[in-house]
Amino acid sequence: MKTQPLQDTARKLIAGGKGLLAMDESTPTCNKRFAALGIPQNQETRRSYRELIVTTPHLGESISGAILFDETIRQTLTSGDTFPKALLNADIVPGIKVDLGAKDLAGFPGEKITEGLDGLSARVREYAQMGAQFAKWRAVIAIGGGIPTPGCIEANAHALARYAAICQDAGLVPIVEPEVPMDGPHDLQQCYDVTERVLHAVFNQLLRQRVVLEGMILKPNMVLPGKDCPHQDGADQVADATVHCLLRAVPAAVPGVAFLSGGQPSELASARLNAMNVRFASSPWPLTFSFSRAIQHPALEIWSGQIANANAAQQSLRHRAECNRAARRGLYTAEMEAPSMAPIMSR
Ligand code: 13P
Repeated sequence: MKTQPLQDTARKLIAGGKGLLAMDESTPTCNKRFAALGIPQNQETRRSYRELIVTTPHLGESISGAILFDETIRQTLTSGDTFPKALLNADIVPGIKVDLGAKDLAGFPGEKITEGLDGLSARVREYAQMGAQFAKWRAVIAIGGGIPTPGCIEANAHALARYAAICQDAGLVPIVEPEVPMDGPHDLQQCYDVTERVLHAVFNQLLRQRVVLEGMILKPNMVLPGKDCPHQDGADQVADATVHCLLRAVPAAVPGVAFLSGGQPSELASARLNAMNVRFASSPWPLTFSFSRAIQHPALEIWSGQIANANAAQQSLRHRAECNRAARRGLYTAEMEAPSMAPIMSR
């Protein structure tokens, strides 16, 4: 296997102080977000929303790579270009979600296993021909009464490692995403403990499956108190817990860590990422973002399916991408969120 091209792609995704944009919501998830805003849920509205995203002016100044969904990579823009081509034109590396979703794990009530390994080798080769240079697979390991179990953690870690090896064999950089969601009343320490156990299991399996650590990106959750936890820690505490946890479990050979946002409010996600970069300026890996909701959500609300709102939605996307790029460099400030700043930044 040629590992240099994988390393080159991974480095490109992390370079330039930029981060990643996840725009790979499955059809049911995208429809759910559209339904909440009264947007019609069909192939054409999903396509035109994603066209709005990839044609946002200057997006490539803050976004290094974008993750597409199967439906989108097969669609075209009104210009006739494919989505991978449009992304390349914008200086953004095209990627693709290849998992088939988290399903109930048989025998483990309340726990999930991500499916999609069968036939994956052929699918990733097809995606590579369509222009994808990297891929994503999300595992979900929930915290609750008596969970996660070792059985769930091991099954998901093994699947992530098998996926990563298959991608590298086809020349795609795997984004390895083990998500410990923020749903529930657990506290910061519980999230820390579970995240550390999960990361140890994942890197164990990655090594067993001979995954080239230099040719992958880790996409973890931040270490956070659950949404229903009465005590919500500040950004500095979250930054310290997250980076200390990663330092115990993530080899320095990994070229980059790109966090998911997991349903955090957009501005809080930026503030927490910023705190990590201020407090750990010399961490072994660049600490960046691979957000979906924390970049897209304000823009989706503005767009609401109306052509007349498209420019304002693109301004909002650009603004959130720029805020997160600043956070990646430890330069994000609350003033960047002032209403008068968004148009200035977007000129
Ligand atoms: P969020 O940033 O909305 O958590 O999405 C990231 C992602 O790609 C989930 O798989």
